[in-house]
Amino acid sequence: MPLRGGPAALLPLCLLCLQAALPLRAHRGRYAGDKVIRVVPKSERETQILRAAFNRLKVDLWQPSSPFYIAEGTVTDVRVPWNTSRSLLPYLQQANVQYTILISDLQKAIENQTGSRSHRNRRSLSEYNYEVYHSLEEIQDWMHHLNETHSDLVHMFSVGKSYEGRPLFVLKLGKRSRPYKKAVWMDCGIHAREWIGPAFCQWFVKEALQTYQTDPVMRKMLTQLYFYIMPVFNVDGYHFSWTHDRFWRKTRSKNTRFRCHGVDANRNWKVKWCDEGASFHPCDDTYCGPFPESEPEVKAVAHFLRKHRKQIKAYLSFHAYAQMLLYPYSYKYATIPNFSCVELAAYNAVNALQSAYGVRYRYGPASSTLYVSSGSSMDWAYKNGIPYAFAFELRDTGHFGFLLPETLIKPTCTETMLAVKNITLHLLKKCH
Ligand SMILES: *[C@@H]1O[C@H](CO)[C@@H](O)[C@H](O)[C@H]1NC(C)=O
Ligand SMILES: *[C@@H]1O[C@H](CO)[C@@H](O)[C@H](O)[C@H]1NC(C)=O
Ligand SMILES: *[C@@H]1O[C@H](CO)[C@@H](O)[C@H](O)[C@H]1NC(C)=O
Ligand SMILES: *[C@@H]1O[C@H](CO)[C@@H](O)[C@H](O)[C@H]1NC(C)=O
Ligand SMILES: [Zn+2]
Repeated sequence: MPLRGGPAALLPLCLLCLQAALPLRAHRGRYAGDKVIRVVPKSERETQILRAAFNRLKVDLWQPSSPFYIAEGTVTDVRVPWNTSRSLLPYLQQANVQYTILISDLQKAIENQTGSRSHRNRRSLSEYNYEVYHSLEEIQDWMHHLNETHSDLVHMFSVGKSYEGRPLFVLKLGKRSRPYKKAVWMDCGIHAREWIGPAFCQWFVKEALQTYQTDPVMRKMLTQLYFYIMPVFNVDGYHFSWTHDRFWRKTRSKNTRFRCHGVDANRNWKVKWCDEGASFHPCDDTYCGPFPESEPEVKAVAHFLRKHRKQIKAYLSFHAYAQMLLYPYSYKYATIPNFSCVELAAYNAVNALQSAYGVRYRYGPASSTLYVSSGSSMDWAYKNGIPYAFAFELRDTGHFGFLLPETLIKPTCTETMLAVKNITLHLLKKCH
């Protein structure tokens, strides 16, 4: 009789443990054969078929972020693991639901990106390369470096600690020209896999430091305002997306009753918390958490914003992907007070953005432009008295999705700079 549970039976399990502990590069083909498909349901019937299938099967929704949002005419991008694709794709064909394949082999697409990274010049901090994605450690080293070399314009501090104990660093940028100045808050990387976000926050700081002496607009910005810039909000998740799972979205907090980790840091804020467009289930990508501000990252930033809400006039949050500029509300279909000021700022900003390469962003209230979601940072900032609250959904519209190539960092950041500068100047003028 074969020994059950003996060393031989444990062996394959342990191989798995070993594999899980190795960094992404050593995972030979974690996403091999995975596909990203796009479906735009053409009827209520197709909507129901997709919702049911995506609820039942193990898929990863890229756009929108939950099956709940799938609706007639809505672009739906979904990562389908290879073994799921073998049943899902024939099923969709049979049900006569049309789909297109955006990425046919995700592993190859990832390797295409990381492949070029291994060839890149590892330049020193003084010749920092802003056209590649950087790991959390690299970003933090860069912040420390700027804090030392640009102490006249940059002050680096921490607003708290993440779930896994990492410091939550923020750069305060601006000339210390007068005791009281209005301020702009910018955060990037609330969602871990949206790597273009942190790349943009870094780009913004670079541009500010390189151009404030020659560009009168930038000089005005840094003289009249402070910028609080948090390049990586969800530090644990971002780190995890580099070491374990490129498509991780949430924080990394542990749940007492489920094995799933993490909370959606953009559903965890105390504004209509866990209502429409958020999930109570810890395994969902839009999990709102056990209670508002349960995530130390959200709590720390909320605390900072509350403390400085008189000073901070704009809240800007950078996400990807969709090419949109969104303002409140997220949680309901309603027009904010002073709508015309915010709308005008958004209208000018997307025009400024378009002037660079002709890329047209959609803009409007998040609820009607993207989808309804409760507990978002943008709504929270607005409700707490920050009049200009915006969320950017950067490039692209799904061709590369979260795997936006490094060659597109420069154009994406260049055009986004124009939008941010335009919004900032709008702030300095009276709208009323
Ligand atoms: C590989 O990356 C380059 C840019 O870095 C991009 O132009 C190309 O389309 C990518 N190929 C695939 C298969 O993703
Ligand atoms: C940034 O530099 C200042 C000194 O100029 C220092 O007091 C502060 O601790 C530094 N910040 C961090 C996070 O190291
Ligand atoms: C902001 O955008 C408006 C409309 O496109 C434009 O008239 C204005 O010059 C822009 N300002 C800046 C600083 O880009
Ligand atoms: C709306 O505008 C009025 C002035 O017209 C101003 O007092 C008020 O603070 C503004 N509210 C918001 C939320 O921006
Ligand atoms: Zn996001």
